[in-house]
Amino acid sequence: MQANELSEQERRQRCEALLDIMRARMTNRAFVADAVVPDEHYEMIIEAARHAPSGANAQPWHYIVIKDAAMKQRLGERFVEEQRARARLKMKFPTPSYEGMKTAPGLILVGVDFRYTRAFPVLNDGSELDRMYQRNAERILLQSVAASVMSAHLAAAALGYAVWWVTAIGQDAIQREFKPLLGVPDDIAIIDVMCFGPPLKASYKRWKRELGEILSWDRFNAANHPSDDELDEWIRKRRHKAMYRDASNVD
Ligand SMILES: Cc1cc2nc3c(=O)[nH]c(=O)nc-3n(C[C@H](O)[C@H](O)[C@H](O)COP(=O)(O)O)c2cc1C
Repeated sequence: MQANELSEQERRQRCEALLDIMRARMTNRAFVADAVVPDEHYEMIIEAARHAPSGANAQPWHYIVIKDAAMKQRLGERFVEEQRARARLKMKFPTPSYEGMKTAPGLILVGVDFRYTRAFPVLNDGSELDRMYQRNAERILLQSVAASVMSAHLAAAALGYAVWWVTAIGQDAIQREFKPLLGVPDDIAIIDVMCFGPPLKASYKRWKRELGEILSWDRFNAANHPSDDELDEWIRKRRHKAMYRDASNVD
């Protein structure tokens, strides 16, 4: 159905239905452990991921559904370790508990094939100019996979699941440990973990910036450009609330 075949009312209804799902997508980090995700749900979620746009239509992603309870335990334990390591490093990042990953009813690993940066506009001659294009190519790749993962999360939200997007898997050490266990080729990086399921406790809606704060018309609205000091203050005073409190508790 093309837009010009829809009445204005139909357009708005369709968009509102989509927005309802988007607004209801909320991060939760603990799920009902014995809930079972039917295969059809996994397939619907990956079907959504499959239709995502990507630079050069390269579709540089791969999804691995992890059903094996022992593997979930092992992954979750590794993240708990990572959480402890970060605390020792004094990063001051309010790292969450990863215990909930161990029994997440739905768990999908997202792989991305960085070789596809070659499919984007690059020179591949090692020159300074090439490095500039290579950096852009990496951004294209990451945006592509994010578009696909987001589609998957929205499909899971549409199915009524609470979702959890985990990127804390990027470190080389975790990659080296898990890729051989899962038969993941060297070229592919496991970039995300997607957990989902019925929530153990109701999800809560986190603070979102107001429309006017993120939207400019024709020209960037300088009022929405925080100074470095303001930004650092946001990190110091508000970040933890934005991450772990519902919107009504963030001033
Ligand atoms: C790119 C990306 C990376 C994230 N990485 C992590 C992560 O490693 N661990 C985690 O617990 N949550 C992670 N999150 C979840 C965010 O903390 C969460 O989306 C944010 O607090 C906003 O809450 P909401 O999803 O309920 O809107 C990530 C989300 C995104 C989109």
